[in-house]
Amino acid sequence: MENETVKKQVVFSAIQPSGTITLGNYLGAIRNWVRMQDDYHCLYALADLHTITVRQDPAVMRQNILNAYASVMACGIDVDKAPFFIQSHNPNHSQIAWILDCYTQFGELSRMTQFKDKSLRHADNINAGLFTYPALMAGDILLYQADKVPVGADQKQHIELTRDIAMRFNQLYGNVFRIPEGFIPKDGARVMSLQNPTAKMSKSDENINGCVLLTDPDTVILKKFRRAVTDSEMKVRYAPGKDGINNLMSIYSAVTGLSFEQIERDFDGKGYGDFKTAVGEAVIAELSPIRKRYEELLKDRGYIEECYSKSDAFAYRLSSRTIDKAMKKIGFILPKK
Ligand code: TRP
Repeated sequence: MENETVKKQVVFSAIQPSGTITLGNYLGAIRNWVRMQDDYHCLYALADLHTITVRQDPAVMRQNILNAYASVMACGIDVDKAPFFIQSHNPNHSQIAWILDCYTQFGELSRMTQFKDKSLRHADNINAGLFTYPALMAGDILLYQADKVPVGADQKQHIELTRDIAMRFNQLYGNVFRIPEGFIPKDGARVMSLQNPTAKMSKSDENINGCVLLTDPDTVILKKFRRAVTDSEMKVRYAPGKDGINNLMSIYSAVTGLSFEQIERDFDGKGYGDFKTAVGEAVIAELSPIRKRYEELLKDRGYIEECYSKSDAFAYRLSSRTIDKAMKKIGFILPKK
């Protein structure tokens, strides 16, 4: 066991609980979380503390947390291999966030593109948490001495900042934090809206047909793919400017494992209608067993509680080592245990 601990790298990632997950979340992130369970020491979190940077309705938020937890589990996470905990259940996260706030510069946070975007979208509530959010995220990662952090391309800048904060801290106090590396999985990393294929697939899409949810019934999934926006060329071919078809090809490739060349060959001489139906059916084949598990899990609240409770305890134990070390180095006196 001890040997194994030395060899396997630590993977950490987290997702914000904005309800049930989308096809984009699944192909871009969660499917990779599941695949990494055997090869790494994986630790995953439901980043609920992050969500209150924008105002939430309490009842909706509670439901979103449970639904998101169950949907990630339904994708195939095994908490005995890869603990999946709830961020707010481990007070070390809030604690490290405050500490790291004091080692993060105003100028650095001001340059974060997500902050700039979100402050435009929520101009009436540009709170301090929205601004310091990247330090909370850095803490999530650094607490567990993670080697690798699988994230979507939109989080790359936050990972860079995490590294800068960690190196700055280590320079002052010696080796406290491992310097993590972000990695952006290649296949299916970026699923775009089916209605507006230049924008990321998102639940907040104005047009519900742009976004496929894990909970969509098969008929709805098929309908959404049949209505997907494409171009007027009518040829299944991956090419610049063909954003709609490129997106459908990426999705199809991600769920079937077929290369773009193979897909082009298979659909040579066929129209977009056939292709859209094929993509829809392939996605249904992937998602419908997950949806069934999700529905079963939601009925078993006791099991969900058991899964997050043991994960919470594991995360707390592991992160306490890092936070104690960091606090001692800074000059705090640790409480008597
Ligand atoms: N900020 C990430 C997002 O919005 C979620 C997140 C929170 C995260 N903490 C993290 C991702 C730590 C990776 C590592 O998608």
